[in-house]
Amino acid sequence: MASATNIDLSGATYCILSGASQGIGRAIAVELSKHLGPKSLMLLLARNKDQLAKTQELCQSDNIKVVYQSMDLSKATAEEMLDAINNSLKGYKINDFANCVIFHNVGSLGNLAVPTERIEDVDEMRHYYDLNVFNVIKLNTQFLKVFEEVEDRVIIVNVTSLCAIKPMSGMASYCSGKAAREMYFRVLAEEKKHVRVLNYSPGPVETSMIDYVLAETVNANLRDVFMSFRSQGALLKPEVTAKKCLKVLLQGKFSPGAHVDYFDDE
Ligand SMILES: NC(=O)c1ccc[n+]([C@@H]2O[C@H](COP(=O)([O-])OP(=O)(O)OC[C@H]3O[C@@H](n4cnc5c(N)ncnc54)[C@H](OP(=O)(O)O)[C@@H]3O)[C@@H](O)[C@H]2O)c1
Repeated sequence: MASATNIDLSGATYCILSGASQGIGRAIAVELSKHLGPKSLMLLLARNKDQLAKTQELCQSDNIKVVYQSMDLSKATAEEMLDAINNSLKGYKINDFANCVIFHNVGSLGNLAVPTERIEDVDEMRHYYDLNVFNVIKLNTQFLKVFEEVEDRVIIVNVTSLCAIKPMSGMASYCSGKAAREMYFRVLAEEKKHVRVLNYSPGPVETSMIDYVLAETVNANLRDVFMSFRSQGALLKPEVTAKKCLKVLLQGKFSPGAHVDYFDDE
C-alpha cells in the first residue's frame, strides 16, 4: 500500500549524494539544493575533485552548506566512509536535522566488451560489484549507524534502472548488479518501516554512460537500442529526470522500497 505522507525537506536536512561529480548525480544535487531548508548540509562524494567543486558551486546558497569528499567508492573502507560522514558533521548535532537523506547514485557499467556467455573473469566482476553493490551497502550501513538515534528521520534513495527488473542484452553485470542493489534496499524497507526508501529509475539519460555504451559494447542489440535512443531524441536531460526524482520523493506516495520509474504515472 502506498504511503500517503509527504516528505518535507524544508527543515534542516543532512544529505549525502554519491556520484555527484557529473551526470544524474550532479543534477539531483542541484535540484535537491533548491528544496533544502536553512542550516542544511550536503556531502557530495565521487572521485573527481574539480568536478565535485563545480557541483558544490552549483548547489551553494545562503541556506545550506555544501561540502565534498573525493573518494574512490570501489575501494573505500567502512572506516573511511564513516570518517567522511563524521567529518562533514563537525560543528553540527545529529538531533538538529529534521531529515537525514542519502542518495545512492554512484554507478558504472562494467566491461561491455565480453559477451555474456564468455564472462569468466570473476575478479573483474567482483570489482564491478564492489562499487555498484557491496560498497553501496557498506556506505548505507555507515549512514544508518551515524543516524541510528534518529532513524525515523532517515530517507534513502537508490538510483536504480529499468535494468534491475528487465534484462537488457549485453549488460549482464549492470543488470544483475542493479537487481541485487535494488533488492537489498527493498529488504531494508521491509524491515524498517519507519525509514522511507525509494528505488528511483531515471529513464534513459544523456550522460557519459551513453557514450560509454556506444564506445564499448560488443552487443549489436544494445548498440542499436542506444543509437536509436539518441537518433530519436529519446534521451532525457539529467535535469529533467532529477526534477522528477525530487517530485516523486517529496510527494511521498511510493510504497516502502518501491521501484518508481521516470515514465510511471504520478
Ligand atoms: N544514464 C542513464 O541512462 C541511466 C539510466 C538508468 C540508471 N542510471 C543510473 O544513474 C546513476 C548515475 O549515472 P550517470 O548516467 O549520471 O553516469 P555518469 O555520468 O557516468 O556518473 C557516474 C557518477 O559515479 C561516480 N563514480 C564512478 N565510479 C566511481 C568510483 N569508483 N568512486 C566514486 N565515484 C564514482 C562518477 O564520478 P567520478 O568519475 O568523479 O568518480 C560520477 O559522478 C547510476 O547509478 C546509473 O546506473 C543511469
